[in-house]
Amino acid sequence: MNERLYLSPPHMSGREQSYLAEVFDSNWIAPAGPHLEQFERRLADYVGVEHAVAISSGTAALHLALRHLNLQPGEEVLCSTLTFCASANPIVYEGARPVFVDSEPNTWNLDPNLLAEELAACAARGKLPRAVVAVDIYGQSADMDAICAIAARYEVPVIEDAAEALGASYQGRHVGTTAWASFFSFNGNKIITASGGGMLCSNDEALLAHARFLATQARDPAPHYQHSAVGYNYRLSNVLAAIGLGQLDVIDQRVAARRQIFDFYRQQLQDLPGVSFMPEDPRGRSNRWLTVLQIDSEVFGAAPEDVRLKLEADNIEARPVWKPLHLQPVFAPCRRRGGAIAEKIFRKGLCLPSGSAMTEADLHRVVSIIRSACASRGGRVTRTAA
Ligand SMILES: Cc1ncc(COP(=O)(O)O)c(C=O)c1O
Repeated sequence: MNERLYLSPPHMSGREQSYLAEVFDSNWIAPAGPHLEQFERRLADYVGVEHAVAISSGTAALHLALRHLNLQPGEEVLCSTLTFCASANPIVYEGARPVFVDSEPNTWNLDPNLLAEELAACAARGKLPRAVVAVDIYGQSADMDAICAIAARYEVPVIEDAAEALGASYQGRHVGTTAWASFFSFNGNKIITASGGGMLCSNDEALLAHARFLATQARDPAPHYQHSAVGYNYRLSNVLAAIGLGQLDVIDQRVAARRQIFDFYRQQLQDLPGVSFMPEDPRGRSNRWLTVLQIDSEVFGAAPEDVRLKLEADNIEARPVWKPLHLQPVFAPCRRRGGAIAEKIFRKGLCLPSGSAMTEADLHRVVSIIRSACASRGGRVTRTAA
């Protein structure tokens, strides 16, 4: 059996162990310490925000931002529908209700026009949502200027879910700099990883001071243990921050590698009938966290799921695109605005192995199977793989 090719495995830089050695030598094996502070400072400087707080996961970072807004039961929060469940789950933790908004075709992210329609409808009903969660899916920025301008008209804060998008840019700025708050994930499958972890970013010092307080069990300033609020154990460990530092050293190389992988797939597969790729909006530069194909089954002669199974038979992991949240059974009772674009992307989409350590031989392995999936079903192959 061929060696397994994973969708997006961790790729260590080789520097993590020296940061970890410093942690062990200094005995900072704790959810505090100099590496944690350094990780926050360096990430904030890299992204271009004033403050960052390292959190145990991206999900927890979003939870803390929403907690700060003091949502009341039954209040609504607008959220992209084409995303992972973690973009919406913390809304429910707070007793609020997600309302899902469809994607625009050019970024696959929250459609500013639908956002404007939804906010106007909410205003007419006299019940504005408390926040907007706008996701940068697969490493491409949403149209954040438009989203933030529309939300600002109604004084609704925007949280940018940049979990997948570290290293991407939009209008010449790093993602995560436009909205009131943003967060990144360092989960094992992300472009850089600390095995797990997240970072909440903002220029709002009050938000980040509150997040820091809540993330460490909401301990009041007293010599004894005193609590006037319910907190969480959400702080990132200094040990994991050291891994994060070793990864942050190479973020730009990781983006370059993922973009090269995308270019390779596109160059090798774009002639296949019925195949297209996730578009890149000219206002930004995606980190191409995952290369996402779109397959028109009728023209290609096989469905994305057939291709996925064919890859799996050769021990290659590929995955469907995120199933839109408005189609998830757990969110069935939630309101939504639109949904057809996200559904189409889901139906046609396939995420290909995109790990930054992939070799050219690995890439050829994936390409040849996809090409054979097309040819074997009678699709019109117009040239053979190089
Ligand atoms: C779009 C999106 N939002 C949120 C998250 C949550 O991040 P974490 O796994 O660090 O909790 C993830 C990834 O896992 C994600 O892909």
